[in-house]
Amino acid sequence: MSQLKNHPVYDLPLRMRRLRRNPPLRSMLQETRLRPENLIAPLFVKDLIKSPEPVKSMPGVHRLPISGIVEECRKLYDVGIVGVALFPCNPSEIKDPYGSGALDPSGLVPRTIEVIKREIPEMIVIADVALDPFTSHGHDGVLNRSKDNVDNDATLNVLTQMARILAEAGADWVAPSDMMDGRIGAIRETLDGAGLSQVAILAYSAKFNSAYYGPFRDAVGSQSSSGQPYLDKGTYQLNPGNPREAVRDALLDEEEGADILMVKPAGPYLDIISQLRQATKLPLAAYQVSGEYAQIHAAANLGLLDLERVRDESILAIRRSGADLILTYFALEMAREMGRAS
Ligand code: PBG
Repeated sequence: MSQLKNHPVYDLPLRMRRLRRNPPLRSMLQETRLRPENLIAPLFVKDLIKSPEPVKSMPGVHRLPISGIVEECRKLYDVGIVGVALFPCNPSEIKDPYGSGALDPSGLVPRTIEVIKREIPEMIVIADVALDPFTSHGHDGVLNRSKDNVDNDATLNVLTQMARILAEAGADWVAPSDMMDGRIGAIRETLDGAGLSQVAILAYSAKFNSAYYGPFRDAVGSQSSSGQPYLDKGTYQLNPGNPREAVRDALLDEEEGADILMVKPAGPYLDIISQLRQATKLPLAAYQVSGEYAQIHAAANLGLLDLERVRDESILAIRRSGADLILTYFALEMAREMGRAS
């Protein structure tokens, strides 16, 4: 009390708090804004299930049958989300060491794409190009003769065919997430050669060898069948300690013809998003991955964090660092709330 009465008034010509006085003023001056169009929803599709199947490690996320995917797309589209990224959860019977299932034109993903594009033609359907949902060993490509590494060029040969099949099924964007060298150029050439030049490439350009992918591998069932708890993809995914290499690799994707570059995971790699924002004029995407999502839910479940506020702040931070598009498992609920707020 006495402190309030007799204090001196300081001569401060610059007072930052003048523009923070109340919520409308703060909202007027907010530098980073998020709209539903900035969000892309990753969806897990599974054949031969009747109802949504919860993913244990990702509260609120389900594997859906094709009919469920279409319903989900409608909900997303109704709240302004115009992009979905599809990931298949395949039974072990269709997996082999070569990922042959990825080349079936009537496979689960091509069929899902066809249905979405028929029902909601405006929806941007993004199809992942990588072999991990189809290989028995869980790697993103085919192994070399000694089976101790992924064979780059043999994998390219499969990925280009896979990209073509997905594009022919109607995918608007193909998204190579495999981190093989030369894949963007090879896929671009294949698509153009097949008369599919309108199909864009969203390149997982700076994809790190991250432990944050754990829950996703549970969702698509791509853990190694060897029983190894965590499959090391360090011979192709980026070393988490290497920002210069990440930017260099991403710029190679631009040279090879990528339309959009992506950083993944997002939250732990905001410096990479920000550096890439300076290094290129291409649109940038960032993937808030399964482990980032699971982490927020786990802490909220323990009563340690406020789920909605941490969720919103995590996404705003990704946007602020320079991402135009954000893949996040929170997409639908966030877009719904944005709709209510406006
Ligand atoms: C693999 C792929 C992964 C994710 C998307 N595509 C995992 C991996 O590289 O093992 C992870 C997404 C997530 O964790 O949400 N092609």
